[in-house]
Amino acid sequence: MKENLADIERILISADQIAARIKEVAAVLDKDYAGKTPIAICILKGSVVFFGDLIRAMETPVELEFMKVSSYGAGTVSSGKLSVSLDILSNIQNRDVLIVEDIVDSGNTMYALKRMLEGRSPASVRIISLLDKPSRRTADITPDYTCFEIEDEFVIGYGLDYGEKYRDLPYVGILKRSVYEQN
Ligand code: IMP
Ligand code: MG
Repeated sequence: MKENLADIERILISADQIAARIKEVAAVLDKDYAGKTPIAICILKGSVVFFGDLIRAMETPVELEFMKVSSYGAGTVSSGKLSVSLDILSNIQNRDVLIVEDIVDSGNTMYALKRMLEGRSPASVRIISLLDKPSRRTADITPDYTCFEIEDEFVIGYGLDYGEKYRDLPYVGILKRSVYEQN
């Protein structure tokens, strides 16, 4: 048992629920990518746990890439700029690209990343997100695949962090307000 359980308000999505949902979504991906070998891009660090489970649940062969990005700017669609601190190594020209993200919030990061990758002439670019907070969306982007839609709550675990903590929890939990309000 992890030690920081006292910081968790409640478990929002259990490890079993996540595993069951990933199985379902993997089956949809297998259908959509039948006969293809997409390049799956893990968006570090938040997606690393989801990525590991998803690629193993898929029957479709995938090539693995890793990227570290964040968006900054005034928060509007047009001014949201992308900061890339780690780029992929492979050439994605004429390849099918599947971006694997932990959570789409404002959507600025995925909006900018999708546009950037589309500039490299891939055959296709799709986004799969473990979580989606549609009520927070400001950018014109919707993930092609979503495992769970959630309310506007700050969540941690299963890769997601608050100040680099809680990524190693096996479930998605809601963080106690007292944890971030004291900082
Ligand atoms: P956005 O969609 O560009 O606003 O940013 C999405 C990124 O913000 C995600 O990849 C996460 O790193 C982070 N993020 C947004 N909401 C949460 C949350 O509830 N918990 C942890 N990280 C979050
Ligand atoms: Mg992220």
